[in-house]
Amino acid sequence: MLFTMTSFLFMLLLFGCSGLHTVTADTPTALDHEVLLDPVEQNFFLRWGFNTTHMDFEITAKTLGWLAVGISPNGGMNAADVLLAWVDDKTGIPTVQDRWLIAPKPYSPRTVNLSLDSTQDWVLVTGSQNATHTTVRAVRKLVTCDTQDRSFTADTTRLIFSMHPQDPATPTSITKHTYRGTRSLLMLSESYLVNSSAINSDTGPEFSNLDLLADRVSISTETRTMYFCSLIKLPTFTRKHHIVTTRPVINRGNEGVVHHMLAYICNDKIDDNFPDKAFDCSFDQLNPLRDQVMGNCTAIIATFGIGSEPSHYPPEAGYPLTPELSGRYVFLESHYDNPEGKSVIDSSGIALTITTKLRPHDAAIMMTGYSDITFSMMIPPQMQDFVTYSRCSKDCTGAILPPTGINVIKVFLHTHTIGQRIYLRHIRGGKELPPLAKDETYDFDYQESQTINPPKVILPGDELIQHCHYNSMSRRNVTFGGWGTPEEMCMSFVTYYPANPVIDLCSSFAPMETVLALTGTPFTSPPGIPLTPEQMKNVTEELWVNVPMINQYKAYMSAYNWTPEKLTALQSIYTDADYAAMCVSTSTNPDAQEYSVVPPNKYTVYHEPSVCADPAPKGTATTSGYSGVMFILYASALLTMSYH
Ligand SMILES: *[C@@H]1O[C@H](CO)[C@@H](O)[C@H](O)[C@H]1NC(C)=O
Ligand SMILES: *[C@@H]1O[C@H](CO)[C@@H](O)[C@H](O)[C@H]1NC(C)=O
Ligand SMILES: *[C@@H]1O[C@H](CO)[C@@H](O)[C@H](O)[C@H]1NC(C)=O
Ligand SMILES: *[C@@H]1O[C@H](CO)[C@@H](O)[C@H](O)[C@H]1NC(C)=O
Ligand SMILES: *[C@@H]1O[C@H](CO)[C@@H](O)[C@H](O)[C@H]1NC(C)=O
Ligand SMILES: *[C@@H]1O[C@H](CO)[C@@H](O)[C@H](O)[C@H]1NC(C)=O
Ligand SMILES: *[C@@H]1O[C@H](CO)[C@@H](O)[C@H](O)[C@H]1NC(C)=O
Repeated sequence: MLFTMTSFLFMLLLFGCSGLHTVTADTPTALDHEVLLDPVEQNFFLRWGFNTTHMDFEITAKTLGWLAVGISPNGGMNAADVLLAWVDDKTGIPTVQDRWLIAPKPYSPRTVNLSLDSTQDWVLVTGSQNATHTTVRAVRKLVTCDTQDRSFTADTTRLIFSMHPQDPATPTSITKHTYRGTRSLLMLSESYLVNSSAINSDTGPEFSNLDLLADRVSISTETRTMYFCSLIKLPTFTRKHHIVTTRPVINRGNEGVVHHMLAYICNDKIDDNFPDKAFDCSFDQLNPLRDQVMGNCTAIIATFGIGSEPSHYPPEAGYPLTPELSGRYVFLESHYDNPEGKSVIDSSGIALTITTKLRPHDAAIMMTGYSDITFSMMIPPQMQDFVTYSRCSKDCTGAILPPTGINVIKVFLHTHTIGQRIYLRHIRGGKELPPLAKDETYDFDYQESQTINPPKVILPGDELIQHCHYNSMSRRNVTFGGWGTPEEMCMSFVTYYPANPVIDLCSSFAPMETVLALTGTPFTSPPGIPLTPEQMKNVTEELWVNVPMINQYKAYMSAYNWTPEKLTALQSIYTDADYAAMCVSTSTNPDAQEYSVVPPNKYTVYHEPSVCADPAPKGTATTSGYSGVMFILYASALLTMSYH
């Protein structure tokens, strides 16, 4: 298990920043967000604004016929809530309609029902067309309480859009679109703000740029996925600086290949003598250099994920770069995804805006979630809704956080391709508070942080529970925890201030021993019988470093007979069993990488209050909260960390 302590601990994926922007005072809407929905074709341009109750939408599409924008549950057409609009070519009169799409599989134009909702919730503001484009503006409630609508929430909004060159012949006869697309957006977020004060404030002589770029990484036509590790030396800082903005720098043409990047600051053990400063560090092979870098470069300073926009710290905080970090190395981890087998040279990276005009608070990033990115995480195949749990224990927050707690300003929720929903829940004094963040319409191809504005406070003694829900119906084999795209993770990156002391990692995982006690291993004769304590020790130590053993183990688990009883038992290992709690504060105890196995306690589940009148909306269209979670939830009772 030693390997897990030194390595998985800080192996972390993560990405962008921006997000959830709550309007605190009631304000009329203004169109202060904008994005080209299809940057390549440039047919659809969306501007929007919102207040506590309403969404204000302005769509411009390159058509003189009809246009449509829908909120989809998953990026597909089926069950999408659609705004359809056109401007009459003869009269110039605009029409906006609220519709509901049913497009059963297999798709055929004849099976698609784009029905008018019985309640028309979009209210037309303006509509016009010129020689080439149609523009329509309409307003709707964020939550309409109509079962034929979907709500606008802080979760990922999975937009679909389409158009046709002609107006409908009659208001009810809609011909099939000639163009369509999809786009995931955090719509109640700050990332698409046209004119935010944060953006406008970082200019002036006190500001400068610091680029953290890879150097001509070569990705061959054979490479489908690659992790590349670059060590980049920081300049000399004569004074303390704050990082106030991080923005992706993606080489033109490589947008589809650069999947995510993370930048970490290294300690002084990574110096000029480190043997290799730029190397392939993919996780499909063991690599001691990667382990050394990951073990010594643990403080995340910047993240980028596919689709993420520049990320700004709020005016009250910045990430500190102090004189003692002069000449230190930054470890840039770049994940390349190359499904089309392109040949690419890439020098993408992350650009920082730094300033000597210090903000009142230092910020930092905490990792939480399921922190064994290896074999103890197993998602059996053919499961509709399998859940992994992890906890940031109250003993950890109690031991580290200052009495006034920390203010959470961003949350980046991360899982991989079979992850459907993520929750980062918040418990105080045995009572569940609204979640720090959640995403019930997660999209792996859109990696962006939610901005928490105003900040949410985590107090000492608070507990976090993170769970990810997986649909493994597409899988024939067990899916293990891991770094590769086809493997799975369930992590969050939580940006907070003040960062004194820092809390780097507050996480948990299911002890390997508990999982192996259920499944057995191929390493006994006959295979599958329970391991003796000595065998268990051998297996849990060897499994991290012995490639033939790893392969044997994976084959065994893939062929494992997951009976209903075994599935239930595995699920309850994640939800109910004693868990391995990790708690790391590099400012309090730089070397603590221990974990302790502790029993969970019971909690009741938070139910999001419904804004809709009783009876509660019947359809699938509204935010469901997560009352569907049937597991009894527990929290840690006792936890003794090594630094106590
Ligand atoms: C929110 O915006 C809507 C639409 O612009 C407006 O009708 C409503 O009055 C606003 N609400 C508040 C409380 O300002
Ligand atoms: C589509 O609409 C028609 C007419 O309203 C209805 O008869 C049919 O059942 C609908 N199909 C689906 C799949 O809902
Ligand atoms: C028509 O409207 C579009 C979108 O607003 C604009 O880009 C375009 O320049 C306009 N064309 C003319 C001829 O005004
Ligand atoms: C955008 O920013 C400029 C400069 O700060 C300001 O003058 C202008 O009013 C802002 N516009 C909006 C729509 O907020
Ligand atoms: C840090 O790097 C040093 C030197 O390269 C190495 O000996 C050590 O094992 C690394 N520490 C960790 C925790 O990986
Ligand atoms: C454990 O590993 C050691 C060293 O590889 C070996 O000598 C011993 O036989 C193993 N014990 C078991 C029970 O497999
Ligand atoms: C499932 O796992 C087995 C054993 O590791 C492997 O041979 C097979 O190729 C895997 N199947 C798929 C679809 O990945």
